[in-house]
Amino acid sequence: MAEYENILVEQRDAVTLITLNRPQALNALNSDVLADLTAAFGAFDADPSQRCAVLTGSGEKAFAAGADIKQMADKPAADFFLEDFFSGWQTGVFGTRKPWIAAVNGFALGGGCELAMMADFIIASDSAKFGQPEIKLGVAPGMGGSQRLTRAVGKAKAMEMCLTGRMMGAEEAERAGLVARVVPAADLLEDALKTAAAIAAMPMMAAMVNKEMVNLAFETTLSQGIVSERRLFQILTATEDKAEGMAAFIEKRAGVWKGK
Ligand code: CAA
Repeated sequence: MAEYENILVEQRDAVTLITLNRPQALNALNSDVLADLTAAFGAFDADPSQRCAVLTGSGEKAFAAGADIKQMADKPAADFFLEDFFSGWQTGVFGTRKPWIAAVNGFALGGGCELAMMADFIIASDSAKFGQPEIKLGVAPGMGGSQRLTRAVGKAKAMEMCLTGRMMGAEEAERAGLVARVVPAADLLEDALKTAAAIAAMPMMAAMVNKEMVNLAFETTLSQGIVSERRLFQILTATEDKAEGMAAFIEKRAGVWKGK
């Protein structure tokens, strides 16, 4: 398995665990972290033995405290534009086709909150804190936060958080629909890995299509989304796992999946 400088990657059966590992900078996200994550998520997508991933942060204090302010502080404005700064997160991380979960411990601020929102869903520890404090730096979210947070929690809370920079605790985040579930901090990783293992035990292609379908809801109109859903459903009926899954139900036994 590849070695990375800024993340740790391990495989636990069919689940890939990726840990952001710059605790000295509260796992702040710089270009090297992005390069590592792009490679790790690419390898995860390409490895047929891996069927779900969990992304978490090292240390108890932070999932990630944002894009690396020290990397951005002296960068000329034109370079942000010419490099299309932050665009790699959308392709290299959000573009992952297999399911993955963000297990958020501690601070998920700015780019950290945006990275967590790129996951298929978030499981948060009871000490997690979410925020988009970029306004306090004279900027605004740049990795999708203004769009994904608004879609997740609605305009009122998203606008309040972006304009004031206030943090939202785990309980509020769950009530608002930002996170799927809150668990005690001590149980976070075990819970996320167990959830990932349950997803990894599902028919793989169906999992990928379910992910694509739900994400479509953010991209298209209701009527077009419903047509696309139907087409994707119809494609799945051609898989061996569909034949197996329905036969297994009728024969009252567990399905044995091929992943296609
Ligand atoms: N970038 C670079 N370094 C960071 C960082 C960041 N986003 N967040 C924390 N660090 C570093 C600190 O500089 C500090 O390093 P030193 O020990 O070398 O000084 C170390 O991590 C520990 O941080 P603190 O001493 O600040 O820890 P704290 O407990 O006092 O405070 C905190 C914790 C409230 C999270 C505070 O660190 C903080 O406010 N961090 C910045 C949060 C932020 O503004 N995030 C948005 C960044 S911009 C962005 O993300 C743009 C975008 O849309 C993509």
